[in-house]
Amino acid sequence: MAFKTNFLWGGATAANQFEGAYLTDGKGLSTADVMTAGAYDHPRQVTWKNPITGETGATDFGFFTDKRQVPVGTIPAVIADNYYPSHTATDFYHHYAEDIKLMAEMGFKTFRLSLNWSRIFPNGDDATPNEAGLAFYDRVFAECQKYHIEPLVTLSHYETPLNLAIKYNGWADRQLIGFFVNYAKLVMNRYHDQVKYWLTFNEINLMDNAPFLAGGVIDGSPQNRAQAAHNQFVASALTVQAAHAIDTTIQVGQMLAYSPLYAYTADPADQLKVQLQQQATLFYSDVQIGGHYPNYRLNQYARDGIKLDDRHEDYALLAKYPADFLSFSCYGSNTVTTHEDKGNAAGNFMTGVKNPYLETNAWGWATDPDVLRIALNTLFDRYHKPLWIVENGIGWADELTADQKVHDDYRIKYLQANLSSMRDAVTIDGVDLMGYTMWGCIDLVSAGTGEMKKRYGFVYVDRDDRGNGSLKRLPKDSFYWYKKVIANNGSDLSH
Ligand code: BG6
Repeated sequence: MAFKTNFLWGGATAANQFEGAYLTDGKGLSTADVMTAGAYDHPRQVTWKNPITGETGATDFGFFTDKRQVPVGTIPAVIADNYYPSHTATDFYHHYAEDIKLMAEMGFKTFRLSLNWSRIFPNGDDATPNEAGLAFYDRVFAECQKYHIEPLVTLSHYETPLNLAIKYNGWADRQLIGFFVNYAKLVMNRYHDQVKYWLTFNEINLMDNAPFLAGGVIDGSPQNRAQAAHNQFVASALTVQAAHAIDTTIQVGQMLAYSPLYAYTADPADQLKVQLQQQATLFYSDVQIGGHYPNYRLNQYARDGIKLDDRHEDYALLAKYPADFLSFSCYGSNTVTTHEDKGNAAGNFMTGVKNPYLETNAWGWATDPDVLRIALNTLFDRYHKPLWIVENGIGWADELTADQKVHDDYRIKYLQANLSSMRDAVTIDGVDLMGYTMWGCIDLVSAGTGEMKKRYGFVYVDRDDRGNGSLKRLPKDSFYWYKKVIANNGSDLSH
């Protein structure tokens, strides 16, 4: 019992954290381009201006809040003298050939990347696409093909064209469905021979706690968040429908941020808290994979007075065109309790308490040796659809030695534990798993903090938190370890 011979090993990135070249060749601004860098102890900010008075300012990037992202009467904007990490990121735009070659050297079977929507439709609602932006992705896919690397393409990864945020309040407006499906059809028509695997919205469930990131929603009231999620569901279903009409070999996946939840105590109240919090996440896959709105969510909307701007045919579409597979990010577990004073913990856009059994990194994210087996079994039992782990990994402030090496044993240790747990889910429990793409395979900017210092890669990129550095690529120790893992198809994880 082992991984399938065509198991898709690889790594994952996102345009706004990796590409840079934020205005090159006609690209328009995206929501990511107005976000400054933060750190563990202070949040990123969204900069804004008042177009009438000229006043400028910045607002803390909002997680878990329904406050507006920028003040009434102002619009998010690039303001001089701020540092925006997406503007250069680690410059994949000019290093793509070298980067894909490094991926090929590791033996990647797949490379997850996102298309920057505003590179193709600079304003999101343009009548015609930007041919120079498309030409960049032509070059990228040609390079992948050269090494037989199968691209896995996310259509929207935290980079809504800024104009759509300003003019329509992002995904809260139904008109975005049309703009998105137009964009999706264009790129699927152009690339269907080279790209078989597509994802619609990165971590779609982030709409509940970070709507500006997930959908360019500036006014993230509960009503607007619910509407934005609905609009993304409908857009996803229409994308699945279009994909299958364009090419029957294309598969479109959902992408969910998923962390198994543990109760801190055996108190039934803690178990209930786990169940309800789990529903808040699985609502998104119940709709996008299961094909219908679950009662627990409909009842909540009724209680909260939320009324969707929906159409009868939306629900028929959701039922008829669910996603073909379920992909998810999973970095660790989350522990919750109804009891006070257990010490807060951090993680991938989540809140919880410290789990005394787990070690954490400098950003408070815990390493959980059983997390992938638990996650995979939970999702497979519920949906019986093929799964794909499209993000997993550990951020670390790697140190470059004098002889230009990075001895990242901590990363290898984390990945050994996670891959072993993933392998058990496949070989012991029989979960149908398509692939594994380690997050941030070549160093890139952190989405949560905007830092460079929080590195995930197998390849170090010479760049710091203020934008200094040569952008030179240097393989870390984990590069050689992962190469060996891929070569033996995950049967030997030793270092
Ligand atoms: C996921 C995102 O939430 O986690 C990525 O899809 C992100 O964009 C990754 O980079 C890791 O989070 P962070 O905050 O450490 O970059």
